[in-house]
Amino acid sequence: MTDTLKHLQKATCIATTNIAFVKYWGRINDALRLPMNGSISMNLDSAFTTTTVEFDESLTADLFSLANQPADAKQSARVFSHVDRIRAMAGIQTRARVASENNFPTGAGIASSASAFAALSVATAKAAGLSLPERELTLLARQGSGSACRSVPAGFVEWHYGETNEASFAEQIAPPEHWDIRDLIAITQTTHKEVGSADGNKLVSTSPFNETRVKLAGASLNIIRRAILEKNWTTFGEETEREAIRLHVIAMTSQPPIYYWSPVTLAIIQAVTEWRRDGLEAYFTIDAGANVHVLAKAEDADEVENRLWQQEGVKIVLHNKPGMGAQVVESHLF
Ligand code: PMV
Repeated sequence: MTDTLKHLQKATCIATTNIAFVKYWGRINDALRLPMNGSISMNLDSAFTTTTVEFDESLTADLFSLANQPADAKQSARVFSHVDRIRAMAGIQTRARVASENNFPTGAGIASSASAFAALSVATAKAAGLSLPERELTLLARQGSGSACRSVPAGFVEWHYGETNEASFAEQIAPPEHWDIRDLIAITQTTHKEVGSADGNKLVSTSPFNETRVKLAGASLNIIRRAILEKNWTTFGEETEREAIRLHVIAMTSQPPIYYWSPVTLAIIQAVTEWRRDGLEAYFTIDAGANVHVLAKAEDADEVENRLWQQEGVKIVLHNKPGMGAQVVESHLF
């Protein structure tokens, strides 16, 4: 098909998901996935995607399997168009076999698209023989799924607001070992949510409160970045909770409204607030789903985890530390 594919043809990458403390919700450009506001997150060490990409001259079409099963048409189309972006950069046309696996339930409100598109971007670029700096990889990952750009660098990461492709990149604020905080994810549903974040993102402008949220998110960025750097737990936690609630206010006041919470979600919010009154200083944040991420200091994490397991409706609790960046774990020369 082509002889421009140089040496590397197969690569495997592991990328973690991330939890945003200042969230991405709404875009100024849908095609490039440029967000309305910058965001800040932490990679989660125990929730990750492993993706292998192999370019193969004998293939006549791309193939994509998820958890060892052929993926559905919609998922496959999104993956193949992302591989197309990277093929165009590498100047190749060779078709690819893509195999991906999550170690957590897909589509349950843990950002599986973040780890998926970070792993896919890094594995595909490597297999295509491209040697891209981290910043370029974040631009690529962002175009696959916005939040994926924050899973490329390690640890605590900021994704910058920018009005062009190049300006909207992600970079590390602090490495994983900077601050030993924990994210205990209380999983309350393991099935696909009804409105995915890709669709929810398109509705923000129908909420009368969106402009205010975007403005406040800008202020939250400065507060949370600083709180992370100074390890100021109370400021960090309080601001993170406020920011999360604002995302859900936008979702609930969009046309049509999106209600991501279940009764269990609200029960956990109330429990965490009560624990705090009793001296256990944990905070919550919630993405586009019913699961609750409970943030705790390292010394309180086991206690928080035990309490979450006792909460009615909680199916699984995932215990996360600050995680690594996207890493190529295997690659082959042919
Ligand atoms: O990248 P997406 O389309 O999965 O959007 C993720 C949006 C939130 O998880 C709700 C917030 C965020 O910044 O991660």
